[in-house]
Amino acid sequence: MAITALGYAGIAARDLGAWQKFAETILGTQVDADEGCLKLRVDERAWRIWIERGDADDLSFVGWETANANSFAETLAELAALGVATQRRPDLALRRGVRELALFVDPAGIVCELYWGATTRLEKPFISPTGISGFVTRNQGLGHVVIAVADPAGYETFYNRLGFAVSDYIDMAMGPDMVLPICFMHCNPRHHTLAFAPAPSPKKLLHLMLQTRTMDDVGLVHDRAVKADVPISMSLGRHSNDLMFSFYMLTPSGFEFEYGWGAQEVGKDWHVTRHDVTSVWGHKMLIAPGGATHD
Ligand SMILES: [Fe+2]
Repeated sequence: MAITALGYAGIAARDLGAWQKFAETILGTQVDADEGCLKLRVDERAWRIWIERGDADDLSFVGWETANANSFAETLAELAALGVATQRRPDLALRRGVRELALFVDPAGIVCELYWGATTRLEKPFISPTGISGFVTRNQGLGHVVIAVADPAGYETFYNRLGFAVSDYIDMAMGPDMVLPICFMHCNPRHHTLAFAPAPSPKKLLHLMLQTRTMDDVGLVHDRAVKADVPISMSLGRHSNDLMFSFYMLTPSGFEFEYGWGAQEVGKDWHVTRHDVTSVWGHKMLIAPGGATHD
């Protein structure tokens, strides 16, 4: 037993006001603003994205979920076997609203919160302020994160020990003699919960993804983003590996947010493949990582 979902994500952002507006009017998530932070809700869980004030404008922590106390203890034992220091934090567990929590830092320097027993609020149903019909979460977790790493092979081995398996690889052509290898890993039926690449990036987080239940939700959010002058960094398209129909926009923190629908899921008969391109069609890069605008 091991990590079974991306349970939540934390972001350190300079402008919480801009994030609140972005979350409520573009992403369509509910926002609880208290204790100087924003807690974004997308489903029956009390919260899924925690935004606190900070200068990094980047990922500040990742919440890796285990199914129960036994899986939590077994994952801690695996981390000890890997020589990774962990720190049990009852105080932080209380703050996050989970039963047990331990901190560790992964090989890319990401602060990870391993936990089980998140607060679920079926008595207060999720109601999107923009009318989003809902997000694909439950046993697939929050969505996926894509991380810039220096050592992709080491990162793959590390997360494989914690319960992740490779879904596929994309060798993305960046120029005539430059290929960016991207590795995609799953820990539940979601095609990838974690992807990573040795991308030259000032931020650890390349993007965060939410998946809607209907295709129209993606189109409606795209329309709202364009109308509100939210920078669209990648046009509508369909990915070659998870077959996700999506687009990418820039968050108030400058990293990308992928908004998608229709991804295929991995099953027990899954075979690992590789691809030469990230998309079947579309996904034209409109703003390069770092901010340059393309025509
Ligand atoms: Fe993605």
